[in-house]
Amino acid sequence: MLEALAPEVALDERLIGAAAIRATGSPLPQETVDACLSAVAVLKGPVGDPEFEAADIRPEQGLLALRAALDTYANLRPAVQGDVDVLIVRELVGGLYFGAHGVRDDGTVFDTCEYHPRQVERIARRAFRLAQSRRGLLTSVDKANVLETSRMWRRVVDGLAPEFPDVRVEHMLVDNAAMQLATTPQQFDVIVTENMFGDILSDLAAAVTGGLGMAPSASLSDGGPGLFEPVHGSAPDIAGRGVANPAAILRSTVLLFEHGLARPDEAHALNRAIEAAIVSAPTVDLGGSASTAEFGAAVREQLAVDEAASSTYRSS
Ligand code: IPM
Ligand code: MG
Repeated sequence: MLEALAPEVALDERLIGAAAIRATGSPLPQETVDACLSAVAVLKGPVGDPEFEAADIRPEQGLLALRAALDTYANLRPAVQGDVDVLIVRELVGGLYFGAHGVRDDGTVFDTCEYHPRQVERIARRAFRLAQSRRGLLTSVDKANVLETSRMWRRVVDGLAPEFPDVRVEHMLVDNAAMQLATTPQQFDVIVTENMFGDILSDLAAAVTGGLGMAPSASLSDGGPGLFEPVHGSAPDIAGRGVANPAAILRSTVLLFEHGLARPDEAHALNRAIEAAIVSAPTVDLGGSASTAEFGAAVREQLAVDEAASSTYRSS
């Protein structure tokens, strides 16, 4: 779809995850990192392969290392359907995923949740700005009744609030947030939260707005290339059957046009075409019977129809 909408954008493919481990022994070869760092934007397919589930070197390590290398700390996960329009802003390069972890001599295993206030400040600032550009409500999700990191998180968010008088801030405990998302997702505008909480809540938000097959994400840094990827994993249970819903990666491409290439027209065109395909060629997860390829063909057809209509309009 990138080629169809922007043929002049040069595409370069590199390996990550299981394919990279098989080819090079590493889930994130240095040449992939170098290529991503010199790109304008990175579009990434899902990683994960049951073959490596219990291995020391796992596909997911490649993804985490790439997020860290690009410093894409702001992970935007929109969940939109009907009257629900939530934007989860997940901190992506800190917290429980990136704190100290290991095994002690006595066999105890640990993963620690660590944040520096500066890390919280930059993600919170992003989220405030996003709330400003939307409906002006920011829900900061934490576990401040238990965790030290969460109490600091709250202090930092509250400290920034006076800079954004047009944004209403509320704090919500993560367990309650999960329940609220499941029962009344309409109440949310922007949710900002820690890495692991955001991982869990974004699957839940996707589930209440059409499922994981529909959920895209954009991971942004300050100035470097953004990383665009579906929220879902590699779904090995349906691999190779041609039934996967490609909407999530196509919607991630919409976000790439919008945030990575600053091309809102192409973003709109692709988004409209995806919406049309959801209606005309729904995949199995959407209650239809279209294959992945048929869904893709429907998107291309709609793009061609729109393009023809707009060139008629231009020439008349
Ligand atoms: C996601 C995925 C990843 C994550 C996995 C594959 C490491 O679940 O992007 O939500 O936990 O961040
Ligand atoms: Mg996840």
